[in-house]
Amino acid sequence: MVGLLLCATSAWTQVNIIPKPTSLIVREGVFPLKDGLTIGCNDASLAPAAQYLQEMLTTVTGLTIKTGKKGKIQLMLVDPNENDESYELVADKSGVLITAPSYRGIVNGIATLRQLLPPVLSQGGESGKVAIPAVTIKDCPNFHWRGLMLDPVRHFFSVEETKALLDQMALYKLNKFHWHLSDNEGFRMEVKAYPGLTSDTVAWRRFNYHDRQCLERASKENNPAMLIPWKYFKEVEGYGELYGGYYTQDDIRDVIAYAAVRGIDIIPEIDMPGHNGAACYCYKWLSCTQNGVEPLCLGRQSTIEFAEKVYDEVFQLFPYEYVSIGGDEVNRRRWSECSECKKRIESEGLKDVNELQAWFTKRMEKYFNAHGKRILGWDEILEGGLSKTATVHWWRGDHPDVTQKSTAMGNEVVLCPFTFLYFDYAQDDNTLRHIYDGDIVPVDLTAEQLKLIKGMQGNIWCERIPTEARLQWMVFPRALALAEKAWTPRKDQQWDDFLPRLQAHLKRLDAMGIQYRPLQTKRP
Ligand code: ACM
Ligand code: ZN
Repeated sequence: MVGLLLCATSAWTQVNIIPKPTSLIVREGVFPLKDGLTIGCNDASLAPAAQYLQEMLTTVTGLTIKTGKKGKIQLMLVDPNENDESYELVADKSGVLITAPSYRGIVNGIATLRQLLPPVLSQGGESGKVAIPAVTIKDCPNFHWRGLMLDPVRHFFSVEETKALLDQMALYKLNKFHWHLSDNEGFRMEVKAYPGLTSDTVAWRRFNYHDRQCLERASKENNPAMLIPWKYFKEVEGYGELYGGYYTQDDIRDVIAYAAVRGIDIIPEIDMPGHNGAACYCYKWLSCTQNGVEPLCLGRQSTIEFAEKVYDEVFQLFPYEYVSIGGDEVNRRRWSECSECKKRIESEGLKDVNELQAWFTKRMEKYFNAHGKRILGWDEILEGGLSKTATVHWWRGDHPDVTQKSTAMGNEVVLCPFTFLYFDYAQDDNTLRHIYDGDIVPVDLTAEQLKLIKGMQGNIWCERIPTEARLQWMVFPRALALAEKAWTPRKDQQWDDFLPRLQAHLKRLDAMGIQYRPLQTKRP
């Protein structure tokens, strides 16, 4: 039950929390932030959260703020339970207390605290009178999976740009960052066993169809956000200027650490057996025809070894439970024309090429599990059979039976149907309401099936998103609607209640310099 008990207080107008908390009471009075303020924490494990809050408050207020064991802002771990993301935040004129059973709960409380600050202070430098309104908030998420997927393959985003997105996610309690690190247009993760994958002509490329389209739009619409950034060009001998980039393993560790402080897990995706033209172009022996055309040839042992060695390095880098195998849009017809793949189908007693992909997914799942990881894939991994312990990303909104089928088989599902949650799709003035009012969780599931819905995420495919400015235009404010869909129970989602809070948050996004799409506009 959402409670909003109001006292006559000037602070009230400042309390606009997204996603909507479970209960919120606003009282008279404020806690003024003053020079010398200490942020305390009762457990050493919370030190990174205290430091994160200190850096954030220092940046937005210009005050001198310290960390210690005890402070007027106190972070307190109580009844520890790693899986419990709930928190309570009590602010009165003497201080702020955030209590939670887990680090994640504490950072959820910090996200709320960030939102209790005035919007104009959301970024940069203004020192002086800043106060937190007196509130009591009790809050916990409806879903544990609240994510964004970014595709830095079609267009590249630097470590700094990625961190900026992570910071924006943290403000809205989005806690899963799905990182699509390989595809036809490039390979973005350094793999020590296969250095060719991030060589100059694999991680960089000549302009492709989508790059040229972006440039045409930049010119036609006079829109610099559609230009390909010069900073990602590289002169390559014999090729001229190529476009691209990749993340070293140190870069990846850096991003993982940044995300972890903010309570965000990173789910890496190395897409196999399809959508890996860059790897096949680099190591031609990976493909059926040995000419560099994807998908991977599943008949050859060398391909299986390649997959295992690449994932070995993924497992070592990413400390989290889930790794995505992708598995979408595989041109399986090529396997039916390959003698090696046909031999595999025969020797494994498989019916057809669909079962060949399922064989590969199950085989890799065993490998993932043996390394302490769980496998996740786009909903095509269902075709040809799936083990119960794999998790499915429902993306094909035009296949409404996917969630029904997966959960009936006992598989967990993350919802990201393109009909609602493809943030690269064009927006009009109704898009936000379409997402907010939509039944993203299918209404035909039983209570048992609903337990298998892990949550939802927005996907940002970047064929037509070449810059950070364009990324922000496509993602915001849609990500705020997603955050509330994933955090707040459906019965408490009301557009008329969301809209004024959203409007207040647009000022916050303005202050943060986020170039979001206005609610009403004729601009594409
Ligand atoms: C996808 O959009 N191909 C998952
Ligand atoms: Zn083959």
